[in-house]
Amino acid sequence: MSLVDVLLMFVFTLLLTLHSCLAETGGDYVRDACSVTKYQDICIRSLASFANTARQDPVLWARASVSVTLSEATNASQYLTKLGKRNSMRGRNRIALSDCIDCFQDARDNLHDSLNVLRSLTRETFDGKIGDVTTWVSGALTDQDTCLGGFDNVHNIRQVALVQNLVTNVTYVTSNALALVNKLATTGMVLRA
Ligand SMILES: *[C@@H]1O[C@H](CO)[C@@H](O)[C@H](O)[C@H]1NC(C)=O
Ligand SMILES: *[C@@H]1O[C@H](CO)[C@@H](O)[C@H](O)[C@H]1NC(C)=O
Repeated sequence: MSLVDVLLMFVFTLLLTLHSCLAETGGDYVRDACSVTKYQDICIRSLASFANTARQDPVLWARASVSVTLSEATNASQYLTKLGKRNSMRGRNRIALSDCIDCFQDARDNLHDSLNVLRSLTRETFDGKIGDVTTWVSGALTDQDTCLGGFDNVHNIRQVALVQNLVTNVTYVTSNALALVNKLATTGMVLRA
């Protein structure tokens, strides 16, 4: 083989490698990240916009999912508080709504604390802090399940059904966030590409 052949082969290999790197699109990144979650369609829909920044970094995926969960929980919490002030629920459901408002406050605190840790993680602090994050996100999910468990809708009241639906939706994104945080806890902080 001449030197030119060797050089050509080298360039060709380089181009092939480059091509396969570029071929990994945002869609691939988000599908890949969401593969560990239970509600994958929701995961892909809610996290697609982070694909090109998060790529294959488990820290950034965990952070994005907790951030999305925090805003959904905040939105739901505002709605529940408004509903509570209207004072239109009766009996068991009125108590359930009031408990729910407390649960959501606790869930938001947990998610907020988690996000702060995820934003400031370093290789040195990782082992000492990641356990708190999994505990807090899992606590947020428990809070939401507790909220749901309080309602009784045998009479199919529209307002109760709406709250159940809204909170159930928040549990989906929270469950997904927990999966991404658990994934981060097992992979650790991998080197960024
Ligand atoms: C916010 O909550 C309302 C219900 O109050 C719901 O209709 C809406 O879809 C929620 N928005 C987001 C981004 O979750
Ligand atoms: C819950 O999510 C479903 C599917 O994304 C959506 O159609 C529905 O409007 C949501 N419910 C509430 C109350 O936000």
